[in-house]
Amino acid sequence: MTASPSALLDDDRARGVFRVARRAFTDPVILARERAAIFDQCWLYLGHESEIEKPGDYLTRKVAGRDIIFTRGKDGAVRAFFNTCPHRGALVCREAAGNGAMFRCFYHSWAFDLEGKLVNRPGDEAYGEGTRKGGMHDLVRVPRLEQYRGLYFVHYQAAGDDLKTYLGGALEYIDLVLDQSETAMEIVGGTQAYGFDANWKLLCENSFDGYHGLPTHVSYFDYVKSKPGSLVEVAIKGRAFDLGNGHAVVQYTAPWGRPVAQTVPAWGEEAAREVAAIKARLVARFGAERAERMATTNRNLLIFPNFVINDIMAVTFRTFYPQAPDKQEVNAWALAPREESPAMRELRLFNFLEFLGPGGFATPDDCEALALCQRGYGSLAGAGWNDISKGYLSDEPQVDDEAQMRAFWREWHRRVSEQPA
Ligand code: FES
Ligand SMILES: [Fe+2]
Repeated sequence: MTASPSALLDDDRARGVFRVARRAFTDPVILARERAAIFDQCWLYLGHESEIEKPGDYLTRKVAGRDIIFTRGKDGAVRAFFNTCPHRGALVCREAAGNGAMFRCFYHSWAFDLEGKLVNRPGDEAYGEGTRKGGMHDLVRVPRLEQYRGLYFVHYQAAGDDLKTYLGGALEYIDLVLDQSETAMEIVGGTQAYGFDANWKLLCENSFDGYHGLPTHVSYFDYVKSKPGSLVEVAIKGRAFDLGNGHAVVQYTAPWGRPVAQTVPAWGEEAAREVAAIKARLVARFGAERAERMATTNRNLLIFPNFVINDIMAVTFRTFYPQAPDKQEVNAWALAPREESPAMRELRLFNFLEFLGPGGFATPDDCEALALCQRGYGSLAGAGWNDISKGYLSDEPQVDDEAQMRAFWREWHRRVSEQPA
């Protein structure tokens, strides 16, 4: 049976066909539904504990169109506030990050402590008693802020599943990344911020699209093959897994060096010895099987709707939000084990810059491919279908199949199709 022209999804197992209407990438009405039914209803990644390590540390970040202050109080507690003044609404904190004792609004100079309490209001004597009660002039806390092993998420609804329940099947894969450190993972350097002209869901797909790797990134593979000893002799093979709740992952063998913990000849003997020692410690902590999985396989994980953890030749986190149906802003971060030696850190950061970074071999090519998709949607004036059928009828979908994308799209469709509350 063919899907009706108004349908957004054509999910037909009998025919082995899975398609998404291109309208999903171009229609402002769909974007408004996404804001209400997805971004306002899901746990969204905010930041990592290492970014606000000391009391008084803060950073500001835009999460699904809302400006947030993420801070650690003098009491050590982590809080998140909407970055808007209770007086007339001005952005209270204009810095990207810093350390301080209070936030002072630029406009009329109201000041708030790190717990969000109003602590100074010029001309305070002119305000009535009613304005001093119930914290009406304090900063507004984000309804829910929860963390899993140092990863902080916000939720804009006061009620609903807790973070751990929401992450569900993805927890195992998050653990495989975070367990790479014997102490804690940390964000290295700051935020990489960039944007490009394509719908945000194209980057959801692309982030774990094993089908595009070889053709899109041919220049990367040509380059590494031209540097003797940069790869190990393994074919890229692996599986795609639907983890529930719209989360999904691909896990596959790594042909490149992984600081945790697979060496390549070009890294030299000293690095090989160090990688062997790191791997031996993984075996001691987790047993041979899990250690092997952590050391020699990659994971590209999507936490619905838009938090990506790529654990490949280095580890990257990223989030991306729509500014318009055909525009997105991306924030990305590099992660590393805190205790990593300078030599391993250097190899990791080189790997990161070479492939994953905004100027690396991968990111510009991916942005170009996705912008070309978006441009292509104009040809049919927002009509037509994208095909995501690869491997539909397989019981064991492979890394270069599209089962992981179908998991995302089914959850997306379920949410945008629900009647607005
Ligand atoms: S808007 Fe912030 S003090 Fe007036
Ligand atoms: Fe890519």
